Amino acid sequence: MKNILMTTLISAFLLGSASMEAKSPSKWEKEAVRNAREQMGLQIQAIENDRSGKVLNPVTTKLNRYATAYCGYEDWRSGFFPGSVWYLYELTGDRSLLPLAQKYTEAIKDAQNLTWHHDIGFIINCSFGNGRRFVKEDEYNNVLVQAAKSLCTRFRPGAGIIQSWNVTGNSWQAKRGWTCPVIIDNMMNLELLFEATKISGDSTFYKVAVSHADRTMAEHFRPDGSCYHVIDYDAETGKVLHRHTAQGYAHESAWSRGQSWAIYAYTMCYRETGNPKYLDQAVKTFRFMKNHPAMPADCIPYWDMDAPDIPYEPRDVSTAAVIASALYELLTYPVENPKECRDYADRIMKSLASADYTAKPGENGRFILMHSVGSIPHNNEIDVPLNYADYYYLEALLRRRNLDR
Ligand code: GLY
Repeated sequence: MKNILMTTLISAFLLGSASMEAKSPSKWEKEAVRNAREQMGLQIQAIENDRSGKVLNPVTTKLNRYATAYCGYEDWRSGFFPGSVWYLYELTGDRSLLPLAQKYTEAIKDAQNLTWHHDIGFIINCSFGNGRRFVKEDEYNNVLVQAAKSLCTRFRPGAGIIQSWNVTGNSWQAKRGWTCPVIIDNMMNLELLFEATKISGDSTFYKVAVSHADRTMAEHFRPDGSCYHVIDYDAETGKVLHRHTAQGYAHESAWSRGQSWAIYAYTMCYRETGNPKYLDQAVKTFRFMKNHPAMPADCIPYWDMDAPDIPYEPRDVSTAAVIASALYELLTYPVENPKECRDYADRIMKSLASADYTAKPGENGRFILMHSVGSIPHNNEIDVPLNYADYYYLEALLRRRNLDR
């Protein structure tokens, strides 16, 4: 998320020699931004017209697939809609979006004190982390640091990781026999910790992030570059107890969104540390996905690359959007073949911007993209819009535009 400015500067340097002139946006890109503005405008209108006294936070559609479903601040997805409004402001320059983005962000402020799950990084970094580039930098920075402290309460030094989910009583995590589960998604929360060290000067956050990234790299990945979803540890001794899945088809399968989190997060870890092993991991997992025999021609992955009924399995647009955004950053670093990243990201984006995946304004619960998957094993959110698909799509549009400038 945070690298928008850095990506612009580095890419201007790296790619500038090819062409010193800014490319004007292509037709599909202009249309994608215009469509996003219209669709999100309708979403905002619905929020502003609501008389419940709450600040509604759109997340997906309800079971009937038409009505919009909203979430509270503790939901892992609560930062994505506020973050999308910040991105939409950047993409359009429409200043009327600023007070709205600010209102939606500040409505989830209490999330800074969450300690019962790991997703506080997603929540706070996507909302306050973006907002501080435009308003109340000091105030928002304080929220980031407090959120980082909350996240660090979940650090388990014996295993060197941040515990993802609590395992209590009769919870479904307990039924799987886990004690200290860590999911690959958790890598995304580390960006908050890196930022908190830069803001506060306290290197504890940085050290926790590096410890988690290193242990995850050692335990989550297979030789082919793909990753497990869940590693369950003994929190005291650090022993790995299980290599499992929660949202994938099988323990040994490649759950697609998990792969996308890995590509995105290890790219971010390279940005924050300069350690090339993180860059290598991001490239390896990207190539695993890109070269996977089941990858469809339009580059929008199935929800799991080993799902049994491919090609009749649902696609997951959220995975595609995360990969595209990651690649627009990855290509600005010293990778062997930046053009490979650029071309692949562009292929994804052109698919997403097409009528196959972009909804008509007013449809799709007023979300931009169709056809994402939350969790098939939980029979939850199958072939629906998801606010994080829209968030990473807007981020990718912005990163792409900044590269071209
Ligand atoms: N972090 C939850 C998911 O990717 O579905």
